[in-house]
Amino acid sequence: MKKETIQPAKHLTGGLDLPGDKSVSHRYAMLAALAEGTSELRRFSAAADCHSTLACVSALGAEVKTDKDTVRVTGGGLGGLKRSWRALDAGNSGTTMRLLSGILAGQQFSSKLTGDDSLQKRPMKRVIGPLREMGADIRARDDNFAPLEIRGAQLKAIDYRMPMASAQVKSAVLLAGLFADGVTSVTEPARTRDHTELALEEFGAAVEKDVRTIRIHGRGANGGGKLIAKSLDVPGDLSSAVFFIAAASLFPDSNVLIHNVGLNPTRTAILDVFASMGASIQILGLKSAHGEVVGDLAVKGASLKGGVIAGGQIPLLIDELPMLAALGPYTEEGVEIRDAAELRVKESDRIAALAENLQRMGASVEERPDGLKVQGRHAGKLRGAEIEPRGDHRIAMAFAVAGLAAEGNTVIRDADCAGVSFPTFFKELNRLAEH
Ligand code: S3P
Repeated sequence: MKKETIQPAKHLTGGLDLPGDKSVSHRYAMLAALAEGTSELRRFSAAADCHSTLACVSALGAEVKTDKDTVRVTGGGLGGLKRSWRALDAGNSGTTMRLLSGILAGQQFSSKLTGDDSLQKRPMKRVIGPLREMGADIRARDDNFAPLEIRGAQLKAIDYRMPMASAQVKSAVLLAGLFADGVTSVTEPARTRDHTELALEEFGAAVEKDVRTIRIHGRGANGGGKLIAKSLDVPGDLSSAVFFIAAASLFPDSNVLIHNVGLNPTRTAILDVFASMGASIQILGLKSAHGEVVGDLAVKGASLKGGVIAGGQIPLLIDELPMLAALGPYTEEGVEIRDAAELRVKESDRIAALAENLQRMGASVEERPDGLKVQGRHAGKLRGAEIEPRGDHRIAMAFAVAGLAAEGNTVIRDADCAGVSFPTFFKELNRLAEH
């Protein structure tokens, strides 16, 4: 359990290359395992979560070879996976468990999926429900929690109207749809990240999109039946970039250039929020890469206004809310987050973790069932404190950033948990921050 000490900084300067996007890496690894041939996935995420996915697909019979950040995955086609006699371990990764459940539901064999203590507390009913409708036999603790036992079956195509805006649920159903006997559709109540749809198209699946409905042709349907190996570059992870955008924004003399960041429009709501708060972010060199969009971000210091984040914005920037909340005390009006009860079932109860740690630093915070209200600058300067991230990578990183502009040192307990998404985070933060 390593501790990291954050000293007050004067500004951040320099260039930064990020690890590959976590969401995209998971999808490329899973689809490569279902494709015929060897896929080369360059700049694959260094995140522990994505390496949990690689370990799972390898246990299911795909060949996985890693050479620095290039991963080669050889799959045996849609019918090529084999039973794993060991339980599949998703570690801390909700995306691994939920997306893989969709794939395992369509296999001719049974699987057991488990994860760490945090993951065993996260709700799985949201994927169990639709996968059962498709014909899978799934057992779970209290019918909701891992370990999951998934007895695969010949799946039938369904038209699924998602009750919640979740990219993981949408993806689980679409991946199961690959193995179904017809055309499966998913209709989302609000837009969520669309990496699964884009990746399915890249690997050659027959996918159609129509406003909020996505259709996939299954093995038994016209046009379905085959995925082909691909060579792909994973864009840099915008959700990791956000910690550096926030850190640079805190100091007037900052100047940071973040290279090759994934700017898929279903992920960039956070940049709109930063812009509305007065942040100085310039997008340079936009280009498209395998259906995804990438560009460089030039960030300078700014005086942040703060504001309210609520409603349909929430699913589009759910992973960025910890950083926005922790910036609250440095803004003019403070930051209020509403309609985000989902934060309570992430890697930790993020609303409680944010409220507790902000209070440790002397902030004025009101915790609510679906969010929190953090007072702005007028409520006083933050003081360095000892932060308890509750094993949650995004809480650890958000408070490391908040610590840069506090009075005195901030100590992040259990700082290694940042490795779940960004193993080199503290090294990069130390490199760019000048004290
Ligand atoms: C993810 C979707 C989001 C997000 C998670 C990654 C994905 O979860 O919070 O970190 O890769 O599909 P939900 O789909 O549960 O909102």
